[in-house]
Amino acid sequence: MKTYRIGVIGLGQRIGHVLSAMQEMGWSLELSAYADPAPVGAPVLRQAGIPLGRACADPDQLFARGPYDLVMVGSPNHLHFAHVNRALDAGFPVFAEKPIVRTETETLALAKRLAAGGTPPLFIGLVMRSMPIVKAVIARVDAGELGEIVSIDATEHLPPEHGGYLARNWRRKAAWGGSYLLDKVCHDFDIFGRIAGARPAKVASFGGRRIFTPEGASRPRRYDTGEEAFVQRDAGWMGANDPFHSDMDVTDHQTAMLQYDNQVRLTFHANSCVSLPERRWYVAGTEGTLIADLVRNKLMVRRTLDRGKPQRIEYGGLTADAHNGADQAMALDLKATMEKGAPFPVSPFDSMAAGLTVMAVDRAMALGEMLDCAPMWAAYDEACSAPAPVKA
Ligand SMILES: NC(=O)c1ccc[n+]([C@@H]2O[C@H](COP(=O)([O-])OP(=O)(O)OC[C@H]3O[C@@H](n4cnc5c(N)ncnc54)[C@H](O)[C@@H]3O)[C@@H](O)[C@H]2O)c1
Repeated sequence: MKTYRIGVIGLGQRIGHVLSAMQEMGWSLELSAYADPAPVGAPVLRQAGIPLGRACADPDQLFARGPYDLVMVGSPNHLHFAHVNRALDAGFPVFAEKPIVRTETETLALAKRLAAGGTPPLFIGLVMRSMPIVKAVIARVDAGELGEIVSIDATEHLPPEHGGYLARNWRRKAAWGGSYLLDKVCHDFDIFGRIAGARPAKVASFGGRRIFTPEGASRPRRYDTGEEAFVQRDAGWMGANDPFHSDMDVTDHQTAMLQYDNQVRLTFHANSCVSLPERRWYVAGTEGTLIADLVRNKLMVRRTLDRGKPQRIEYGGLTADAHNGADQAMALDLKATMEKGAPFPVSPFDSMAAGLTVMAVDRAMALGEMLDCAPMWAAYDEACSAPAPVKA
């Protein structure tokens, strides 16, 4: 069996978990080297029994110590553009965490580069695409079980310890994370675009900070069991101690409305501190309706004129990290892609479209206006139609 030689840029908790899942799913791997000033993911790897490999001062030193079968990028979001580009320059296959990049300008530049061709393969960790429940939703939509999709209603609501982590971790700052929605739910907007089968034409959004504010600091900070509610996890790189007195500048709750080019309408509601966590997609079509409960990993479907009980499918495999086996499923997808050339479930272009969608939502919120997305898509399409580089 081939042993994959892996180099990592940004060895945080996420890459720690992805590597652990890869090993668990039968990858023979050697973490050969990493570039990270203070690898937050080290304890995760120690627990999985994966040796850390050689520490490198920066990505250039890491590349010089190659070759690698895979370079994995798990740095904070504002570094993705530079790290992904340098890894592509080095010529090794790349796995990069989502969001693929953090701004519209970076998206256009990367789109231009990828459209020109000649780059090594680039896989993006939009891990929900690998989940069996999500694959089933997409398959049912594609098979026409719901008829034409008319409207979608979706949520992502987090428990206090998760919201408290976001308010202390680097994700609290737009300069590092992009935004609350870009970091947290670009996954969901990727799937919504896939279900709708179109791009958003108009978007509006309202959101703000009403939870993790100095005024909120006087509210109780422990669960009724005595456990800390907001500071259960290490806040990591550039972490802040107190979620209520950090310098957070992204939203802690946000709503959005989108109308896609083909008249599919969507509402979205996210809150980062609730007592009833939920990640739910309600998809209504002309012939049927589907509810995907991503927290409980359950699907419910019924045809519009059926009077019998809805079909209920439980996908099981619930895990404490709420990923419910997604990392393991992605590890298998990546293995099948690298070993057998099977298509990876999501492309960098899907990832860029999802990112741009969320960026448009955030821009609409900042402007306080409904945003016409046509100019943004025109700029993206122009970048994607870049001519191939002229060979000397
Ligand atoms: N797909 C998913 O479900 C999922 C889940 C969590 C995180 N993520 C993504 O993974 C990425 C990492 O998130 P995380 O939760 O692991 O964060 P983290 O804070 O645990 O890790 C980030 C790591 O980057 C390192 N770093 C900072 N500056 C660096 C630099 N200049 N060069 C190299 N390394 C540097 C930090 O020291 C840290 O070890 C983010 O893009 C995030 O959006 C994806």
